[in-house]
Amino acid sequence: MKGQELYKRAKVRIPGGTQLLTKRPELFLPEQWPAYYSRAKGAEVWDLDGKKYIDMSYMGIGACVLGYADPDVNKAVKSAVDDGSMSTLNCPEEVELAELLCDIHPWAQMARYARTGGEAVSVAVRIARAKTKKDKIAFCGYHGWRDWYLAANLSQSDALDGHLMPGLEPAGVPRVLKGTSIPFHYNRIDELKTIVDKNKNELAAIVMEPLRNYQPEPGFLEEVRQVATDTKAMLIFDEVSAGFRLNCGGAHLLYKVVPDIAVFGKAISNGYPMAAVIGTAGVMQAAQDSFISSTYWTERVGPVAALATIRKYQHCRVEKHLVSIGRLVQEGWKSAAGRHNLTVGISGIPPLGHFTFDYPNDLAIRTLFTQEMLSRGFLATNAFYASYAHQEGHVNKYIKAVDEVFGLIAKAIEKNGVEGLLKGPVAHAGFYRLA
Ligand SMILES: Cc1ncc(COP(=O)(O)O)c(C=O)c1O
Repeated sequence: MKGQELYKRAKVRIPGGTQLLTKRPELFLPEQWPAYYSRAKGAEVWDLDGKKYIDMSYMGIGACVLGYADPDVNKAVKSAVDDGSMSTLNCPEEVELAELLCDIHPWAQMARYARTGGEAVSVAVRIARAKTKKDKIAFCGYHGWRDWYLAANLSQSDALDGHLMPGLEPAGVPRVLKGTSIPFHYNRIDELKTIVDKNKNELAAIVMEPLRNYQPEPGFLEEVRQVATDTKAMLIFDEVSAGFRLNCGGAHLLYKVVPDIAVFGKAISNGYPMAAVIGTAGVMQAAQDSFISSTYWTERVGPVAALATIRKYQHCRVEKHLVSIGRLVQEGWKSAAGRHNLTVGISGIPPLGHFTFDYPNDLAIRTLFTQEMLSRGFLATNAFYASYAHQEGHVNKYIKAVDEVFGLIAKAIEKNGVEGLLKGPVAHAGFYRLA
């Protein structure tokens, strides 16, 4: 397999093999995952050997909400490239995009940009610290690779265990940041209140996803808002993954809880690098008290791709499709598990669904699932991120294959034979998000 050959070369030249943990082939199927693609279109991906798969996994790790190589987004991007994607002057589309994002989120009046999610959340944290003149951050969930976030593991080497990858080392993060980032769990307002009590008047921001794997308990988001207001901390909703899945805009709009800052990435630009930080004018103006500036935040492809993606999203009511396709997949998992008496736990909002094999050797079972699905023509793991390019036909084929593979797994579990069916090593554990 050409992909695995190339991956061996990658590990010699690229520490860790890939640029994103979630694209590491060992997380899916060590020694057998195709690893690289030559072409991606709609919901399909071709590997380096020209073999075609239907992507029923992460769809560009959540970045390609319209599907791969969307024709409308690509048309807009190609024309921006032909007209010059960079110049000494600014691109007008960045103003148009700020206006569009503020129209969609009427509580916000201003926007700044970055190109990746982690970078944009760091911009938001910098603005919050500049605005409040305070340092500490209370957070819940995953927010990228930056120092402000990994600092949580300096206080207690296992602070992020069970949230990110167990044993994650914050090597390279200055030890002086110890105690500046403090985690709490989703739906645990008591934990947040304890952090506030212990760090009176020191919190610059509360950073969290408005929802992800769980719906908020009634009143939870409202209470978080109140705590932020009372302690004069900025409430930052990280919408990098949750945004533009259930509705056109931040998921917080559904709950009518308004943050001071919201951060977008991934889904807003369908695979082209773009991220946005929006907020109230009073808060965003604090960006001017700090130095927040980067050359490639001014290039044109990102804003053009975002405008084309969001307009298509609005025009086609993409969220309806994502929810209905995601539901079909979750129902398919549930009924296939039921038919074969497999104990499978299903979670996540319909557009970002996950399941777990609830057995002691769950990782080996998941590896077998990926191995068998791959041989049936699917990129598949225990998650499905819906896109506008997924059609019912894809889901039907996929669920038929899932049914076969769940049957095979059930028999293997009965005979204690899961490991014996694996053609390679068991997959590595992925990172866990803060619940
Ligand atoms: C909620 C959330 N925030 C931030 C990030 C980091 O984004 P990026 O990988 O683009 O830096 C992610 C990525 O998965 C995310 O899901």
